[in-house]
Amino acid sequence: MTSHEKFNKSTTGTEVAEAFKDRIRGKHILITGASPNSIGEATAHAVAGSNPGLLILASRTRTKLATVAANIQENHPTVTIRTIVLNLADQTSVKEAAQQIRGVTNRLDVLINNAGVSLSRKQWSPDGIELTFATNHIGPFLLTNMLLPILLEAARDGEPGATRIINVSSSAHMISPMRFSDYNFEGKTLLPQREQPRKNLPEHLYEKQGGFPGMVAYGASKTANVLFAVALNERLRSSGIRSFAVNPGDVLSDLIREVGPRLLKAAGATPPEKWKSSDQGCATSLVAAFDPSLAGMWERLRGNPKDDEPTDDHGRFGGLVFVGLSRSTTGTLGVRQIDGREIMGAERETRNEHWWEQIVTLRRNR
Ligand SMILES: NC(=O)c1ccc[n+]([C@@H]2O[C@H](COP(=O)([O-])OP(=O)(O)OC[C@H]3O[C@@H](n4cnc5c(N)ncnc54)[C@H](OP(=O)(O)O)[C@@H]3O)[C@@H](O)[C@H]2O)c1
Repeated sequence: MTSHEKFNKSTTGTEVAEAFKDRIRGKHILITGASPNSIGEATAHAVAGSNPGLLILASRTRTKLATVAANIQENHPTVTIRTIVLNLADQTSVKEAAQQIRGVTNRLDVLINNAGVSLSRKQWSPDGIELTFATNHIGPFLLTNMLLPILLEAARDGEPGATRIINVSSSAHMISPMRFSDYNFEGKTLLPQREQPRKNLPEHLYEKQGGFPGMVAYGASKTANVLFAVALNERLRSSGIRSFAVNPGDVLSDLIREVGPRLLKAAGATPPEKWKSSDQGCATSLVAAFDPSLAGMWERLRGNPKDDEPTDDHGRFGGLVFVGLSRSTTGTLGVRQIDGREIMGAERETRNEHWWEQIVTLRRNR
């Protein structure tokens, strides 16, 4: 599905923001994870050029936030920017930040849950949760829930489907399904087959340090981002809020600062043409956040009478929408729903089964 005929694999966030500038103007937008050279910074720069009503940047390191905000303000002096220190790994910090955000605005049109980490060593959050999962899923889950009143307020006044929650996932979701039985990697139970990491992936993706497989943990947390988007759509559909999980593509950011040596080596061997710039990397988030053609997608997908036996990917996921600017050789697609077939090739179905089963299980248990 193409949302814009000119979008392709090299489209930048700046170009997307320009295309949807009428949808950005006046909006109250929150982006998490905005440090210099990050995808979050590029996302913020791109939207700032289209006159949002309020741009809130929430991230872990005060000095980095200040640098990014000052830089944006210099280029876009009329934009109102607020910075909030937020440690997603710490639930107390998330609660405080949410309160501050609610003090800054009584409506939030777009929440981009962008911040994330990829860790090679096992670490614990202050709340006793494995740090990757705490940062990448539990923190954003809590923040989103605490911001729901102001998201609902925006949805009440706005066009149906224009209020959006974007979860920045990754193609790394393919590495592991959500580990409901062992999200802390304690190995106390035998993982059921549907929660085990995918087999036959490149060896470096299974790299362990001290017995901890960092990329499996990262992959599981990124699957959680996708499942969270599904759950939000299921629960909030009547409110007019929509959620999308997106894959930004490969960007040489600081994300790899704590990955293991084999993964780092593999990243180093990646051909230069495979990397996107951070501006290109934020394009997908911005399509998901502002493209009006995505507003009614949930209803279209839910309208499929054979929800679990679909004619295409959309139905198969019962409304899971994984949007990505295609990295394919065709380069003609603006938006792909679910991740592009080209990324996963013939193995796509295997992974889909994992997700599908997990979604069905979640529904059954509700
Ligand atoms: N780069 C890629 O190739 C790629 C591919 C797929 C998906 N992604 C996803 O894209 C998103 C952005 O990643 P990136 O590439 O821009 O990485 P990055 O440069 O490392 O940026 C991550 C941002 O998240 C912030 N952050 C980390 N831990 C946090 C915490 N506990 N609380 C609040 N903020 C925290 C970081 O702040 P500090 O700098 O202060 O730590 C930084 O601003 C992530 O969700 C990542 O998983 C990236």
